Amino acid sequence: MTERTPIIAGNWKMHHDHYTAIQVIQKLSYQLDKTDYERVEVVVCPPFTDLRSLQTVLEADRIPIRLGAQNCHFEEQGAFTGEVSATMLAKLSVAYVIVGHSERRELFGETDEDVNRKVRAVVKHGMTPILCCGETLDEREAGTAEAKVRGQVEAGIAGLSKAQVGAAVIAYEPIWAIGTGRTAGSEDAQAMCAVIREQVAAVAGPDAAGAVRIQYGGSVKPGNIAELMACPDVDGALVGGASLDPDDFARIVRF
Ligand code: PGA
Repeated sequence: MTERTPIIAGNWKMHHDHYTAIQVIQKLSYQLDKTDYERVEVVVCPPFTDLRSLQTVLEADRIPIRLGAQNCHFEEQGAFTGEVSATMLAKLSVAYVIVGHSERRELFGETDEDVNRKVRAVVKHGMTPILCCGETLDEREAGTAEAKVRGQVEAGIAGLSKAQVGAAVIAYEPIWAIGTGRTAGSEDAQAMCAVIREQVAAVAGPDAAGAVRIQYGGSVKPGNIAELMACPDVDGALVGGASLDPDDFARIVRF
């Protein structure tokens, strides 16, 4: 079996301006040490406006927290008012880009095709996509969750080489668990993460499936992270609310 380095990413969503972001990242770094960074890859995904400030702090203080963005546009440049390209993010030492978060899909109408174009743009610029997938409560109750997630994964990684798929991160985030305090039980999380790995194997082969890292996301907290991380197909977490507080996020990283 491939060794997969656990990856815990904080998705700050639309929280923390760049002043607060600097304080939060410094507090977080005081709590983490070399052994934490050797054990877990730690990623913080702040709003775009914080990226440059955090890049400067992380580089100046040699803090090995990786920077992520929450979205990007798939074109390199052009008349797309309000958008930010993958090229621009790569220049800010951004290593990861969250793509196709359910809030982007539901509130901003992103389709599987948009998501795939973004994934390809991210990879093209040497960054790693965190491709999000997940079902609604209605879909879970109707028994269509697995088909939905398989479809999102297959569409999301279309056009990538096997090696690119293996290097990617996929986040399974059941929509009913996001921000609701209601986590998928570790059995449900494991079951769907195994389905995702199986789908990756079907599309990109066993090597890519063995290497791809799959995160669970949805109300991850210091109190439930250990149980989730004990699941064989859960390689990390995408953390929203609990990542805003450096103490809570540090406890999650040190699960
Ligand atoms: P939550 O958000 O941890 O606040 O549920 C997770 C996410 O949306 O990535």
